[in-house]
Amino acid sequence: MTPKRPLIEAVGLSISFGPLHARNRVVDDVSFRIDKGEAYGLIGESGCGKSTILRALSGLNSDYEGALTLNNQELPKKRGKEFFRRAQMVFQDPYGSLHPRKIVEKVLTEPLAIHGIDRASERVAETLDAVGLGPSFRYRYPHELSGGQRQRVAIARALITEPEILLLDEPTSALDVSVQAEILNLLKRLRVERNLTYLMVSHDLAVIAHICERAGMMYKGRIIEELTSQQIRQSQAKEDYTRDFLTASVEAVARRDEVVG
Ligand SMILES: Nc1ncnc2c1ncn2[C@@H]1O[C@H](COP(=O)(O)OP(=O)(O)O)[C@@H](O)[C@H]1O
Ligand SMILES: [Mg+2]
Repeated sequence: MTPKRPLIEAVGLSISFGPLHARNRVVDDVSFRIDKGEAYGLIGESGCGKSTILRALSGLNSDYEGALTLNNQELPKKRGKEFFRRAQMVFQDPYGSLHPRKIVEKVLTEPLAIHGIDRASERVAETLDAVGLGPSFRYRYPHELSGGQRQRVAIARALITEPEILLLDEPTSALDVSVQAEILNLLKRLRVERNLTYLMVSHDLAVIAHICERAGMMYKGRIIEELTSQQIRQSQAKEDYTRDFLTASVEAVARRDEVVG
């Protein structure tokens, strides 16, 4: 067995917003490591800083303190092009993240053109197939797709450059519950098939427990404890806050299961 090694590490990550006299520190000294092939989650209520961490890691926001590393090397604040090929982001809202006037083919060939990757037509067909969409989807506009199909296209767009890392920001939160499960199962299968590493952010504990081996529980910009998916399922938390969050989530899942039947 090959020994585990960290692919991604955050060390003392802090992020603040606002003018100097009224700085608001929304991510406060956060550290975590994600091994190659692992799925790591960040859980916590809305506003606790999850998306802000993802945006810093993805290179969308370079205004942070502390270090973010890839393969034990500190990432430069201004990421190189190769980083954007290797680490791709999937957003919560499949409606907002796809351009309304671009057909799927264009959505998928643009990243290939940017990164100078060949065999565009074959790759589009392969990647659509990998996310469970047939070849006819190439010529559809986003408004001709369901929410779940849109999110499949967004996942295909992320996969087409053959990245190692997916940064997933609440990728199923905007979807109907029945569709959520399909997308989660797709993400689970793709990770194994493509040897991917995930950092997934969600306020939904069931989603994190389904996908991730480990997760950091966030509260007001800090990771207050880390849990394995087994500890999540068995409600084994050290911190009172985490225990309350787990209890509330289990109740929410039960209510949702009643609705779905
Ligand atoms: N660009 C920004 N400017 C000012 N405040 C921001 C900005 N982005 C996020 N925030 C604030 O940072 C906090 C954390 O936001 P966010 O990371 O989006 O939370 P989460 O994803 O956990 O719901 C919130 O209070 C939010 O209002
Ligand atoms: Mg968010």
